[in-house]
Amino acid sequence: MYGLVNKAVQDLIVTQFGQDKWEAVKEKAGIDIDTFLSMKSYPDDITYSLVGAAAEVLDLTPARVLEAFGEHWTLYTAKEGYGELLEMSGSSFVEFLQNLDNLHVRVALSFPELEPPSFRCSDVTENSVRLHYESHREGLAPMVVGLLKGLGKRFDTTVDISLEASKDQGHTHDEFLIRFEKRT
Ligand code: HEM
Repeated sequence: MYGLVNKAVQDLIVTQFGQDKWEAVKEKAGIDIDTFLSMKSYPDDITYSLVGAAAEVLDLTPARVLEAFGEHWTLYTAKEGYGELLEMSGSSFVEFLQNLDNLHVRVALSFPELEPPSFRCSDVTENSVRLHYESHREGLAPMVVGLLKGLGKRFDTTVDISLEASKDQGHTHDEFLIRFEKRT
């Protein structure tokens, strides 16, 4: 994945746990890269190793690290120059979800080797939506949960997420049922 992702993992660990923990994570992951370059594409293994090492160093499950990472991503991208893109992508929680593929199409204009996920909404009601998540990558559903929680905060919306079908259990893709309510 692009260095922007690895930098966001670094930012999450440094800001929430401190520089020492980040050094320990890099060492455990066996990664000898001083500075990730946002616009350079790195092997996915690097990102997965960072997550695995962070789980060990911080005594969390890998799923918990991925979820925290997903939640951090919505804040990190906003401060790294993608705030306008986030703003263009929707003015409510559900509108934003419906625009996720368009968002990544725009991201791909500056990241030509992007291998983005794909999201589709179905069964949209006033306070629920079924979100279909497709990716060629494995094991990132907890990251999506974190992303959805981060987006809930962004839109002042309470979200309740359940993974109703998963690739891990043989389904073609992951499917989340999300109940949401805008806070007034
Ligand atoms: C402006 C904000 C965003 C930017 C700049 C961005 C950019 C990226 C980039 C660079 C990657 C790595 C893919 C690769 O290198 O091949 C990625 C992956 C991903 N993005 Fe986004 N993204 C943004 C917002 C979002 C949001 C709001 C979601 C919410 C669901 C999302 C969901 C994902 C997921 C789940 C992946 C992991 C890759 C996979 O599933 O295969 N992104 N994105």
